[in-house]
Amino acid sequence: MRLCRKGGITPPLQDEAMTNIPADIKHEIEKLVKDLSYHCYRYYVLDSPVISDSEYDRQYRHLKELEEKYDYVLPDSPTQRVGAPPLDKLEKVQHTEPMLSLDNAFSHDEVREFDARVRRFLKSDEDVEYTVEPKYDGLAMELTYKNGILYKASTRGDGYVGEDVTVNIKTIKAVPLKIEDVDIPEEIDIRGEVYMDIREFEALNREREREGEPAFANPRNAAAGSIRQLDSSITAKRKLHLACYGIGAVRGIKFQSQWEFTKWLEKARFPLPVLMKLVKGMDSVINVIKEIEEKRKDFSFEADGAVIKVNDFGLQKALGIKTREPRWATAYKFPAHQGTTRINEIIASVGRTGTITPVAFLEPVRIGGVTVSRSTLHNWDEIERKDIRIGDTVVVERAGDVIPHVVAVMMEHRTGKEKQFTPPDECPVCGSAVERDEGGVAFRCIGLNCPAQVQQRIGHYASRAAMDIEGLGEKNVERLYSRGLVKHFVDIYKLKKNELLELPRYAEKSAQNLIDAIEKSKQTTLARFLYSLGIVHVGEYAAKLLARNFKDLEDLYHVKAERIIEIKQMGEKITGSVSHFFNDPGNLHTLKTLTSMGLNISNPDYETGSSEKRPFEGMTFVVTGTMPKSRKEVEELIESMGGHAAGSVSKSTNYLVLGEDPGSKLQKAQSLGIKTISYDELMIMIKGEDRLF
Ligand code: IVH
Repeated sequence: MRLCRKGGITPPLQDEAMTNIPADIKHEIEKLVKDLSYHCYRYYVLDSPVISDSEYDRQYRHLKELEEKYDYVLPDSPTQRVGAPPLDKLEKVQHTEPMLSLDNAFSHDEVREFDARVRRFLKSDEDVEYTVEPKYDGLAMELTYKNGILYKASTRGDGYVGEDVTVNIKTIKAVPLKIEDVDIPEEIDIRGEVYMDIREFEALNREREREGEPAFANPRNAAAGSIRQLDSSITAKRKLHLACYGIGAVRGIKFQSQWEFTKWLEKARFPLPVLMKLVKGMDSVINVIKEIEEKRKDFSFEADGAVIKVNDFGLQKALGIKTREPRWATAYKFPAHQGTTRINEIIASVGRTGTITPVAFLEPVRIGGVTVSRSTLHNWDEIERKDIRIGDTVVVERAGDVIPHVVAVMMEHRTGKEKQFTPPDECPVCGSAVERDEGGVAFRCIGLNCPAQVQQRIGHYASRAAMDIEGLGEKNVERLYSRGLVKHFVDIYKLKKNELLELPRYAEKSAQNLIDAIEKSKQTTLARFLYSLGIVHVGEYAAKLLARNFKDLEDLYHVKAERIIEIKQMGEKITGSVSHFFNDPGNLHTLKTLTSMGLNISNPDYETGSSEKRPFEGMTFVVTGTMPKSRKEVEELIESMGGHAAGSVSKSTNYLVLGEDPGSKLQKAQSLGIKTISYDELMIMIKGEDRLF
C-alpha cells in the first residue's frame, strides 16, 4: 500500500508569477509531480504499477522536501491529497446541470419495455445503440475540472444543490487531480459514484464495533459517511473508490456519444465502471445484463443493478427528461438477495463497552453466492417489533446490506414451540448485572472486569487506528489474556520475550517482532492515545477534537465538563463521558502508570488557535507604517490569533496598528473614529500581559 500521508496543513498554493525559484528546481518539481501522478494512476486505476512502493515513497519524499524548501506547490501535486485542516461545515454547491435519478426496471421484460418506449419516442424501428454497465451502490458525485485541474467536487444532494467535498475527494488516489493525455476542455463536470469495497467496509465495521461506535448498515452508508467528513484525514483512511459514468455541463469540447466520452475518460486516466459495453439492440443488452449479474458475486463492491443508456448524445437530447429522470436511461435492479432459514439459537454478545447485542445463529443458507449462518438482530426493540423467536423460520436478506438481516418471521411456519428471547438479567460472560441504557434501547453489562469487555478493550487499544501494535489482533489478545499475561492494556508493556516464547505459536522471530512493535508504538500522538483508551463515545474524530484543544494528557486530568462543552461540536454525551473518565482516580492511576512506562505522547494536533485561545476571532486589523517586523509577519501573527488582517481601513476595522510614517491610513482611521494601537500594544494584546479589550 502506498503512503497515504495524514493530517498536515496544506501550504497555500503558489502563484507561479510570484515565485522566484531556480528554473531547474521548478522543472524538477514539475517532473516529479507528473511522474508521481502517472505512477498513482498505474497503481490505483490500472492496478499495474511499474515502480516499487519504496521508489514511489522516495520520490514522494523528495518532492515534499523541494516543495517545502522552495514554497512551490502545484495544484495537482500528490502532496495535495493528504487532507486539509478540518472544516466547520460543508459548503453548498449548486450543480450547473441538475443531477438526475434513474427510472427502474425490475425484470428483463421491463427493460424491453424501456427500449420500446425509446423507439416509439424516436419513431424508429431500428435497433438502438446502448451502453450497459453495473450500477454501483455508492454516492453520486460531480467533479468539476477547470482547464484540466480538479477545481471542485460535490455530492449529488437533492440533485440541484450538493455539498462541497473537494478536500475529501482529493484523498481518493484514483481521482486525477489533473486531466492528462487528452484535449483539455475549459470546464467539464464529470460524474461518478464514490463507493467502498465490501472487504474494506467489513473491516471498518469490525473496527467500529471494537471501539463501541455504531456499525454502518451497508457499504453505501459507509461511503457516504466517509466522503461527508469534516475532517479529511479521516476520509483519507477510508479507502474509497470512484467509478466515472457521466457528464454534466461542459465547455470547450464536444462529444457525440456516451461511448466516445467514456473513451476520453479512459484516456484521461479516470477510473471507469467494470464490464462496460457498447451494444446494439435489446437481445445484446439483456446478454450484458446477464453477464453482469453472473459476475456480480466476484465484484469487490456492491452493485445493485445495471444501467442502460442510449449511446448517442443527439438521441439523448431528443428523448429529454421526464420530471427528474431521463427518458434515455434506465436502471435494471437485481432481485434482492433473500433466503429463508431457521433461527437455531439467539445469543447475547457482549461488546467492548459492555453493550449487549442479540445475534441469531441460523441454519446455514446460501444467499447470493455467500453462506449466511449469523445475523445481527440489532437490539431487543427490533426483536419485539418483528416478534422474532428461537426456532422461527425467517426471511433473511442481503440486499444492499452486506451484513445479513432478518426481514420478517414466516408466521405460517410457527408451531408454538418457538421460544422468546428476553434480555439477560446478568452478563452471559461474567455474570455481572445488566442495565438498560438511559432512555436507550441498549442493554449493558456493568462488570468492569468482564473478560469479554476486557479482551476487546485490549484489542481496541492495540488496533491500527489506535496504538497500532502489529501482531496484537483478536486471536493473540485472547491467547495472552487466557494465559494471564495481559489482563489490562497496561500489561502489554510488561511482556517479556521469554514469556512469549513459552507460548505455543511464538517463535524467536514472531516474539521479537511483537516486542519491537510494542516498543515502536510507544511513540504516539495524543489523538491516537485518547482514542485507544476506549472512552465511551470517543471515536477517532472526538479524540482528534480533544487533542486539538488540550495541550497534553496532563491538561485533561481532572478536567471540568464546562471546559469540554465549550469545544465546538462536542455534545453533552461525550462531554459527560470524558470528564467522568478523567476524574476517576482509578483511570488517572492507569494513565500515570502508562506514561511511566515510557510512552512518549506528542500532540501535533494541538491548535494554539483553538476557540478560547483565538483572542482576535472576529476582529479586523489594518497594519501600516514601519515597525520592528515586516508588515507580512505582523499580519500573519494577527491571523494566527484568529484575527483578520485587511489591506485598507473601513468601518469594519477594529484596530489600526501604527508603525512609523503611517501615511493616509491614519487619517482615514481617525475620520472613522477607529482605535489606533502601537506595535508594542499589539504584542501586549497577544501575550495577554495586560487587558486592553
Ligand atoms: S448514470 C441520469 N450510471 O444511480 C442519471 N448512475 O438511480 C445518470 N449510479 O444518482 C446516472 N451507478 O448515483 C449512472 N453506472 C451508473 C451508475 C449510476 C450508480 C447511481 C447514481 C445515480 C443513481 C440513479
